[in-house]
Amino acid sequence: MIKVGIVGFGTIGKRIADAVLLQKDMKLAGVTAHSYNYRIVNAHKRGISIFSHTDKDNLITHGIPVAGDINALCEEADIIVDCAPKPYGMENREKIYEPNNIKAILQGGEKAHAAEVSFVAQCNYQDAIDKDYVRVVSCNTTGLARTIKALDAAFGVDFVRATLIRRAADPGQTKKGPINSIIPSLELPSHHGPDVRTVLPHIEVFTTAVIVPTTLMHMHNLSVVLKNGTRGVEAEDVLKLFEKTPRVRVVHADQGILGTAEVMEYARDLGGKRSDMMDICVWDKGLGMHHGELFFVQAVHQESDVVPENIDCIRAMLGEEDAEKSMALTNKSLGMKH
Ligand SMILES: NC(=O)c1ccc[n+]([C@@H]2O[C@H](COP(=O)([O-])OP(=O)(O)OC[C@H]3O[C@@H](n4cnc5c(N)ncnc54)[C@H](OP(=O)(O)O)[C@@H]3O)[C@@H](O)[C@H]2O)c1
Repeated sequence: MIKVGIVGFGTIGKRIADAVLLQKDMKLAGVTAHSYNYRIVNAHKRGISIFSHTDKDNLITHGIPVAGDINALCEEADIIVDCAPKPYGMENREKIYEPNNIKAILQGGEKAHAAEVSFVAQCNYQDAIDKDYVRVVSCNTTGLARTIKALDAAFGVDFVRATLIRRAADPGQTKKGPINSIIPSLELPSHHGPDVRTVLPHIEVFTTAVIVPTTLMHMHNLSVVLKNGTRGVEAEDVLKLFEKTPRVRVVHADQGILGTAEVMEYARDLGGKRSDMMDICVWDKGLGMHHGELFFVQAVHQESDVVPENIDCIRAMLGEEDAEKSMALTNKSLGMKH
């Protein structure tokens, strides 16, 4: 049984905690509270052990029993999944995890050099085996890596261009914006392209990005130059490939799924926890060939697509060598497509 501690109980941390609770080979050792808030109250009511990061007295005043500090959580756990906002993951590694000699997963907000390896299960599971510090890449990078990896394995990829239309904030974040602007990334490429190369180093990928006033999902518009052009590859072949690719889901325009609002409504109807959509959703329409390039559009649920990656990363870092086995266990436990 792998004992997992979660540091940071926000958008990502609370989801990974719930995913850990669903794994037969894992036990949730506890979560840290950085402040007193409704998430912590709810976790306590569900019987999850709360460890204090700061604000211990405030937690006790509000009736939250504190099982110990963050160092005590490191003693209880075999591995920490750090879900603090950037750049505190790196700081926590240096100040807490290394002195406590405990393995830790960092999240995609951290720089790549904060960990030994960056990780997407479908791309480089083996690189994380027995490592001490691994970074699960961001939601956007995970989304790009899953579909690009599938195309590369099936047809060979020469070059990818992608425009990322990024959500401004998560639904619960009231202090972030913009609420009435489109903000371009003025770096070329945007940081996402180089980040994809931390897990798929041989792929040439160039990204640009804009932030728009929405909270539901990110959208990616991709154009891909395949190794032999598109000769012999039809749109149908690519759709069939994505249909059978784990953690990628083809969504259908003729069923009325025409944008991210319908994708999230569809996720609600599927009935998963929090209505999360952990698969990357590729539209069937809008996928096609033009002048030897493949074009398609995909949507990424930023709050949840990295959750299965963290679960697989835990197993890899604790020595499970079989990527397929881990991914199958994770997908089944989380009710994912495959
Ligand atoms: N949200 C996304 O769309 C998304 C997607 C993929 C990856 N990520 C990455 O995941 C990481 C966490 O993001 P998030 O969206 O989950 O953030 P979040 O919702 O703001 O949650 C962060 C949590 O960490 C706590 N915290 C704050 N400072 C801390 C510190 N120094 N040490 C430990 N915990 C601390 C916060 O507590 P208080 O609220 O009490 O301060 C909160 O519980 C980031 O690296 C982010 O880039 C985010």
